[in-house]
Amino acid sequence: MLILGIESTCDETAASVVKDGNEVLSNIVASQEKLHLEFGGVVPEIACRAHLDAITIVIDKAVSGANIELKDLDAIAVANTPGLVGALLIGVTAAKSMAWALNIPLIAVNHLYAHLYSVNLSQKRVQYPLIGLLASGGHTSLFLAENVTDYKYLGGTLDDAAGEAFDKVSKILGLGYPGGPEIDKASKSGFRDAVKFPRSYLKKDSLDFSFSGLKTAVLYHYYGKPGFKNSVDRETKACASPHSIGDIAASFQEAVVEVLVNKTMLAFQKQKRISSPAGIAVGGGVTRNARLREKFEEAANDMDIPVHYPEPEHCTDNAAMIAGLAFHNFKKGDAAGLALEAFPNYRR
Ligand code: KG4
Ligand code: ZN
Repeated sequence: MLILGIESTCDETAASVVKDGNEVLSNIVASQEKLHLEFGGVVPEIACRAHLDAITIVIDKAVSGANIELKDLDAIAVANTPGLVGALLIGVTAAKSMAWALNIPLIAVNHLYAHLYSVNLSQKRVQYPLIGLLASGGHTSLFLAENVTDYKYLGGTLDDAAGEAFDKVSKILGLGYPGGPEIDKASKSGFRDAVKFPRSYLKKDSLDFSFSGLKTAVLYHYYGKPGFKNSVDRETKACASPHSIGDIAASFQEAVVEVLVNKTMLAFQKQKRISSPAGIAVGGGVTRNARLREKFEEAANDMDIPVHYPEPEHCTDNAAMIAGLAFHNFKKGDAAGLALEAFPNYRR
């Protein structure tokens, strides 16, 4: 079955043709990184305009790149939740128009579940149930993936997402956007135990996350606490810390990674008695982080738990994960009608 997937939830316009859920025939992503660079984050109005400009070109490229014609497609899939409402509507409208014009089924896909499904692309065999950690620019959540299509929410961030914290700290340190890859790179020249930044675990056994206090701790460390001796004027962008950017980046990264890994391991332990998970799946842009993978390997190897990662090109937003999961949703009888709506918020 050939499915065209469309993804436009945030700042990437993407389309992909996937055969039978895991054979990726094309994977086209038009990134808006350059447009949002000067703002250090995604500007919704700019994102929507860029989606409009790119969507038909990206879809054309995905179809021709798969060496097929539109008439060969069996269904159209689209991420209709969660995301920026204007951005979602562009993908949903394109998908509906194509499904109607080609007279083929339309399949709705949850963007978060698709990130966790992405470990199945590239024709791997993954055993379920799994504990899923989704760490991206917009979300940081833990799920129990009962099988490829059924996900139960276990916990999530109460404030900033992990990727958002990387982006904001990168801005504080005067590094580029998106911040994750910049901090990942800068960390290589620093010591991760140089600065002891706080780790927020919230209540005992909590599976929720909070990264805003850590972000503020980096801000105060970098500029000094406002009004205190040695603090510097933020306008000057001067660093008040005796540590190098590499040290601060590595220490911040260690604090995020430690909490992500420890909470995922806690979720695994808690679910062990209830649902006997067979392993862990991680997904989302932050799972490209080299230290996160290293730390997962350390923790999981000790406990003999398999950890599944997507290929690097399937970690950040892409449409292959949308078309892939859509195949299984459709097999389950889950097709959408042309009245499909876009839902900006995640609904458990
Ligand atoms: O999954 P994604 O493309 O978008 C959302 O669904 O939000 O994730 C983008 C996020 C950005 O915040 C970016 O800084 C982060 O993923 N990211 C990383 C790395 N590469 C991308 N974070 C940490 N380390 C990386 N190597
Ligand atoms: Zn995403």
